[in-house]
Amino acid sequence: MSILISNQQNPTWWQNAVGYQIYPKSFFDSNHDGIGDIQGIISKMPYIKSLGVNFVWLSPFFASPNIDNGYDVSDYQAIDPQYGTLDDIFEMIDQFHQNNIRVVFDLVINHTSDQHHWFKEAKKSVDNPYHDFYIWRKPVNGSVPNNWVSLFGGSAWEYNPATKDYYYHLFAKQQPDLNWENPKVHQAVAKIIDWWAERGVDGFRLDAISHLKKDQRFKDVTNQEDAMNNVSGIDQLLANLSTDFKRNHLMTVGEAGGVPVEQAKRWVDSKKGYFDMIFQFDHVSFWEKFTVGKVDVAKLRVALTRWQNGLDNNGWNALFLENHDLPRAVSYFGNDQKFRSQSATALAMMYFLMKGTPFIYQGQELGMTNVDFNDINQFRDLDSQRFYREELAKGASPEETLVKLRAKSRDNARTPMQWNDQPNGGFSDHQPWISSNPNARYINVANEVEQTDSVLNFYRQLIHLRLKDPILLNGQYQLIETHDHQSFVYQREENHVGYLVITNLSDQPATVTISDRYQNLQLVLTNTTEKQQSSTMALKPWAAYLYKYERN
Ligand code: GLC
Ligand code: CA
Repeated sequence: MSILISNQQNPTWWQNAVGYQIYPKSFFDSNHDGIGDIQGIISKMPYIKSLGVNFVWLSPFFASPNIDNGYDVSDYQAIDPQYGTLDDIFEMIDQFHQNNIRVVFDLVINHTSDQHHWFKEAKKSVDNPYHDFYIWRKPVNGSVPNNWVSLFGGSAWEYNPATKDYYYHLFAKQQPDLNWENPKVHQAVAKIIDWWAERGVDGFRLDAISHLKKDQRFKDVTNQEDAMNNVSGIDQLLANLSTDFKRNHLMTVGEAGGVPVEQAKRWVDSKKGYFDMIFQFDHVSFWEKFTVGKVDVAKLRVALTRWQNGLDNNGWNALFLENHDLPRAVSYFGNDQKFRSQSATALAMMYFLMKGTPFIYQGQELGMTNVDFNDINQFRDLDSQRFYREELAKGASPEETLVKLRAKSRDNARTPMQWNDQPNGGFSDHQPWISSNPNARYINVANEVEQTDSVLNFYRQLIHLRLKDPILLNGQYQLIETHDHQSFVYQREENHVGYLVITNLSDQPATVTISDRYQNLQLVLTNTTEKQQSSTMALKPWAAYLYKYERN
């Protein structure tokens, strides 16, 4: 009998909570095959508990041919044997619950694997009952139905000789999109949601959910987003889908890139919304795919503040800097060489204390960095491989292409978790499926537990603070405009008491002047030993200060 945590009695438990994302393949290998697994996660329960987080979100571990590392599911009610068994999953859910940590799974329902039995049936004949589970169009002039392209490159259409028509795939051709115009698709997915809810799952992260609706005119488009992202009519689909989560008292966070904040209010409205939270990507959208370059702090302030203000009193933000698709924050936003620890902690304080639910991606709490790969054969991500092939075909050199991959490849986030200074960072005693970062010698859990001023211990303090003081839960966010390209300063305030977050997000010293309306400033947390004596603060590179204040 599994241990259930009552989500019904506490329907907004996820608001005063911190989430931790686990990428199972790279977390911990318990059976010496170089692949992280469920028993590996269970064995690291004390570590996860020690962080003080309230829930975990696990990237997919379901049965899958792993074309896209599990984001191509062939059976939603079975476990990929490389990760373990269903019993391992049930044991893991129990263990998390015993430790008062809720469990969120990743639900990939924009598409399935082409090895899912629905698709295997669907492609047999147009009369097959599953044919209409997917999106099919007849050839036009002997070729693809329209100019829609896949996010992983090339046409979004793949020909199926048996039915003489094309199926649509937004991602890889082994990831055919489900046809959400067909009510039977919803019914089938609803059963899967119920099934996991009965087994104790507390919520879902909804993969690629802003892509569910496709423009049913299937016309050529000039802007590819018009074909498949946040297409008009999606609201009705999501409202229907949300009934399955609500019925089961499940927490939901939708991956919803490209949904503007004005519309997002509908998505996460506390009464009529489709999801509890969404991941928006505005603060990372000025990352052109595979380009090299640093973030403009002024743009970062604008992007994050737009969402803070936009969802204030009308929804709830999911706060994050990293996930399994993005480069490491310390390498992209920060400086992973000269200021690794300072920039990792300044970035942490900047995003963590905004209004919303903070998410930490495994290894972010250590200040793990991007890969140092110098050979395309070290990369594993299909999209990175694809990019490399295409660039070289266009005449680019391997060297310049590798520079771009080291900056933006999704593999940056997927190298093994760094536990100690043993080979492979203590992740496995077998050659891992993807090489471990050599800096695991000194960036690792064992080291950082010991060092009081480590990134890890800074995160632990942030987590503790965030969960302890209701001002950091409810307090109103307000940006303090600094008109520069270096600092990010804001306050969180409730009833004239508040917190002032002051960060210098640059490699240069910065100056910030604190208004005298802040009284009784008390230093709560900082990542530097530098004391501040006056209201004109001289901030060292990547300095971060958290003050509590009163206001008359
Ligand atoms: C989401 C996932 C990503 C995956 C894609 C297709 O963006 O985060 O890893 O490749 O959806 O499922
Ligand atoms: Ca293993």
